Amino acid sequence: MQKETYWSRFASDFEERNKYVVGKKDMHLILNKISEQKNLKNTLELGCGNGTYSKVLASNTDNLLATDLSDKMVEASKARLKSFSNIEVEKANCFDLQYDNNSFDTVFMANLLHIIPEPEKAIPQINKVLKKDGKLIILSFTAEGMKLINKLRMFYRYLKTYGKPSPHAQTLYLENVENMLIEKGFEIKGSELLGKRMKAIFIIAVKRT
Ligand SMILES: C[S@@+](CC[C@H](N)C(=O)[O-])C[C@H]1O[C@@H](n2cnc3c(N)ncnc32)[C@H](O)[C@@H]1O
Repeated sequence: MQKETYWSRFASDFEERNKYVVGKKDMHLILNKISEQKNLKNTLELGCGNGTYSKVLASNTDNLLATDLSDKMVEASKARLKSFSNIEVEKANCFDLQYDNNSFDTVFMANLLHIIPEPEKAIPQINKVLKKDGKLIILSFTAEGMKLINKLRMFYRYLKTYGKPSPHAQTLYLENVENMLIEKGFEIKGSELLGKRMKAIFIIAVKRT
């Protein structure tokens, strides 16, 4: 399987770095929103990083399979999540999911869709592994709806924290992502921008075909 090189460098302290870039208040708000997602049953998380959202999802899932392309992130998540009896962590590439068809009730992805090349190519893979009527939950930071001053401040914090942006990073817009999902057989159940100074797209979609 392909090797991840950009995010792997931050595996040991990704959550802390991210909290600084996003800001504590917006991070808190976003994590609260994720914790409100109940009864997720058998869940696959893609691009789990070092487990920030996995910890929150764990209380609302029967089983959580937290995955990432980066060996270093997988290693860090395994260590950080070892006390959770319903979480397993392993390596997976969102463009080539090796799981049975129709096997998950929920797929969750946070801050993955806006950093991968050709995000539309990941959606059919998700559709394949989700059960019919299964749920796809997408959270992804965006510049949509952000004031210019907040964009500049965030960009400065990002450069200070991570250096040059990741090669495929792009701004995703709610409407574009909704259309991408509808085209690939999903029905949109909820769609909103989260956050005050920082913004994140938050979409809940259900597999219909
Ligand atoms: C911006 S980080 C987000 C991590 C975590 N979801 C969070 O929000 O805290 C993006 C993550 O996606 C992973 N990633 C990159 N390309 C991937 C791919 N093709 N499949 C799965 N994960 C990938 C990276 O290794 C990294 O951990």
